[in-house]
Amino acid sequence: MRYFVGIDSSTTATKALLMDETGAVVGVAAAEYGYETPQPLWSEQSPLLWWEGTCAAIRGVMAKTNVTPDSIAAIGLTGQMHGLVLLHKAGEVLRPAILWNDQRTAAECDEMRAVFGKQRLIDVTGNDALTGFTAPKILWVKNNEPEIYAQIAHILLPKDYVRYRLTGEFASDKAGGAGTQLFDVRQRDWSAELVAALGIDPAWLPPTFEGTAVTGTLSPSASQATGLPAGIPIVGGGGDQAANAVGTGAVVDGVVALSLGTSGVVFASSDQPIIEPEGRLHAFCHAVPDKWHLMGVMLSAAGSLRWYRDTLAPGVGFDDLLAPAANIPPGSDGLLFLPYLTGERTPHPDPLARGAFVGLTVRHTQAHMTRAVLEGVAFGLRDSFELMKRAGLANVNQVRASGGGTRSPLWRQILADVLGAELVTVNTTEGAAYGAAILAAVGVGAFASVPEACAQLVRVTGRTGVSPAVAAYEKQYQLYRQLYPALQPLFQQLA
Ligand code: XUL
Repeated sequence: MRYFVGIDSSTTATKALLMDETGAVVGVAAAEYGYETPQPLWSEQSPLLWWEGTCAAIRGVMAKTNVTPDSIAAIGLTGQMHGLVLLHKAGEVLRPAILWNDQRTAAECDEMRAVFGKQRLIDVTGNDALTGFTAPKILWVKNNEPEIYAQIAHILLPKDYVRYRLTGEFASDKAGGAGTQLFDVRQRDWSAELVAALGIDPAWLPPTFEGTAVTGTLSPSASQATGLPAGIPIVGGGGDQAANAVGTGAVVDGVVALSLGTSGVVFASSDQPIIEPEGRLHAFCHAVPDKWHLMGVMLSAAGSLRWYRDTLAPGVGFDDLLAPAANIPPGSDGLLFLPYLTGERTPHPDPLARGAFVGLTVRHTQAHMTRAVLEGVAFGLRDSFELMKRAGLANVNQVRASGGGTRSPLWRQILADVLGAELVTVNTTEGAAYGAAILAAVGVGAFASVPEACAQLVRVTGRTGVSPAVAAYEKQYQLYRQLYPALQPLFQQLA
């Protein structure tokens, strides 16, 4: 039996997952860590945490299972997207990585639009400038830390720093490259025009590979650090959202994945690059060779419910909190919740957006408020669906739901009714690390292609159909859509 390792370096932990050649997960281990917010809007992490976490997680998963190191056939990488890792010419880290959820770069986003033109940015990269992406972070370092900028020799993404430590190679993948916003998304490579316009030295950027391509092999020093034999192939992999989509089978046209974790993501695979004309959806390359994807990202999805529980019903279990909400009518008797508790990305890229309950009366109970939170998050996700339809993604056959929030049957029903689509759950629950292991397995020929691997490994385990409540939600959604434009001037002043 051959085995494949998927490594996921997220914001909170690095996880190593071991998959056998039938696709079964034989073990998972994780090493946790924190991140720093040294100033308001900042979010940083030392790249060494991901490397130490990778070594600990690999050793941990090997110790838990009876798998011999010689039977590891390939390693796939995934991790948090958009983070900026800067290295000196000797490969030393120049400053802490600036992470995906860092919001310091509003001025640099304006600079990118001024230098390149907003419409041209959207046409070439598929996206309007966004504080979370990598490109404005590079400009921020140029504008604010010129002594660091002057020493840059290599720019990497978080997962690619792990790759560098594993192989000694500077390389990235197409999905991650697109997420830097320095890619020509149609050409699946760095945009020479944009890189030049922003004054970035192209020699700093690594070559990029498809998600299943072998980018290097485990070096002798990494062999010592991880306990695995030198020479194991390391494949391209992909950013966590693209790898998660592989793990849930959203790899063919028409399959949409919805992930309801702290953030909420609507992800649609496509055979062609599709760009939303105003750049409000992320348009990136997929980790699946020669495929693209559209993505809407809501920053506080299940995170809204957690905040609500921790703040207004501390100590209450989620099942107990949600049970009474099932008896409240759809639409929560005219109560709306706006879920922008940590600002928003899609459809309103606004770090200053805020949350709100709107329409409270003395007749509303805690159960109404709970239901309004579940409905508000569903409406926010529907916004991404509407943008996808408008961008031309017509044939949505199935929505595959994953993430902690979808464990609730009530929330699944609300989502199916608000989206007007059948929601299915699948047997694979390990997300991005599992997707990275699949990419590794395809990379060394264990499966003929990613879609073929997913067809064999990912099975539907549950279905939630649309109920008659769909009409009530349609009316409520039209009211919900008016909240942000009405409140936005106030949010600016409050902030
Ligand atoms: C995707 C994104 C997040 C991070 C977090 O655009 O920003 O999924 O990758 O891990």
